[in-house]
Amino acid sequence: MEIHPGNHEIKDVYKLLTAAVTPRPIGWISSINAKGERNLAPFSFFNVVGYDPPHVIFSPISPNGRKKDTLANVLETGEFVVNMVTENLAEQMNKTSAPLPPEADEFEFAGLTPQASVLVKPFRVLESPIHFECKLVHHYSFRDRQNGSTVLIGEVVLIHVADEILKPGFKIDTDLYKTIGKMEGGMYCRTSDQFFISRDIPIK
Ligand SMILES: Cc1cc2nc3c(=O)[nH]c(=O)nc-3n(C[C@H](O)[C@H](O)[C@H](O)COP(=O)(O)O)c2cc1C
Repeated sequence: MEIHPGNHEIKDVYKLLTAAVTPRPIGWISSINAKGERNLAPFSFFNVVGYDPPHVIFSPISPNGRKKDTLANVLETGEFVVNMVTENLAEQMNKTSAPLPPEADEFEFAGLTPQASVLVKPFRVLESPIHFECKLVHHYSFRDRQNGSTVLIGEVVLIHVADEILKPGFKIDTDLYKTIGKMEGGMYCRTSDQFFISRDIPIK
């Protein structure tokens, strides 16, 4: 079946895209506004997109043109932190997706501990084992549609890794670091069932 996105209801296109592109990593983004009010929300339109220098990308949708607090904050201050989400934090991560007013503090709402960052103003989630402190380097809003989105690209200026999960040689202990991925609807997946494929590919 061929599906032209422009010929279908946007909710159906959303369903198709988010069921097709799975699993998606989750960037749990903390930000702060000019008044110093904290914000925290998960984004699965998220990934790492470069490592020399390291960059991450994520994309808040603006439903009916309304900017989410995260987008407003990052555009205002030019800074954000990505906190990685592990199995034990799934419920709290989900709580921080509630549509709270801009002045509400999702750290408090979800029972999480704000920890000061080193190079940027937004706080980190103490309970998360990996944080990326980021500075916004580029933003781009897609064509103005009812649910148009903005892509935010940030340079990672500082990486925090919990000592317990860091093995010699900058390896992460994946038996301890159990990230989750986003599937369609309210579904998630674990990353505990992994397999190995060698990149040593014989070329005849
Ligand atoms: C796992 C998960 C992933 C999400 N991914 C996105 C996303 O990529 N883009 C988006 O606009 N909203 C996404 N959301 C919804 C936002 O988290 C939600 O709208 C939140 O209230 C935004 O908060 P803010 O207004 O404080 O920025 C996601 C929610 C969950 C639970």
